[in-house]
Amino acid sequence: MKQVWICLAATALFGSQTAIGAEIAPADVKFQDMTIEQSLTGVAGNPEEGAKILASRSLGNCLACHAVTPLAKEQFHGDVGPALDGVADRWSATELRAIVVNAKHVFTKETVMPAFYSLDVGVRVREDLVGKTILTAQQVEDVVAYLQTLKETN
Ligand code: HEC
Repeated sequence: MKQVWICLAATALFGSQTAIGAEIAPADVKFQDMTIEQSLTGVAGNPEEGAKILASRSLGNCLACHAVTPLAKEQFHGDVGPALDGVADRWSATELRAIVVNAKHVFTKETVMPAFYSLDVGVRVREDLVGKTILTAQQVEDVVAYLQTLKETN
């Protein structure tokens, strides 16, 4: 019984900590058509961190579905989605943010691309992800910062 209470107290503490700060909670993210104008954190994204998140299987795992030439050495990539080379020429930063937060708002509801900053990640959600987003708000900003570096003219 004692252990249960310690566990509950820890959950309450952790829960309140995540609410602190200027971060926009997943349910409060505002889409304007196909864009999210406002940074989720107010802190500029770090493209180097973003590249790591794209390649990480436990985080973005973007390479499972997308080819990205500068990251080709990192991991064998899939081709379920389009290559992300030159993606910054096709989409603005605010559109890229919307795609990463919840691709269903930009493509179709049936898209296989996961919603990375939404509590509504779909029916086949892994049990350990229930009630959590796949990426944190800052990780989304980092990924968007990296995507902005992917120009054809590079
Ligand atoms: C399960 C497969 C899958 C994963 C994982 C995935 N995507 Fe996608 N993504 C797609 C598909 C498929 C599309 C094309 C739109 C459609 O058909 O729904 C797409 C489209 C995109 C586009 C628009 C590309 C263009 O050229 O128009 C961007 C940007 C993008 N994804 C970024 C990402 C990022 C960043 C990640 C990781 C954080 C990621 N995707 C993870 C499947 C995936």
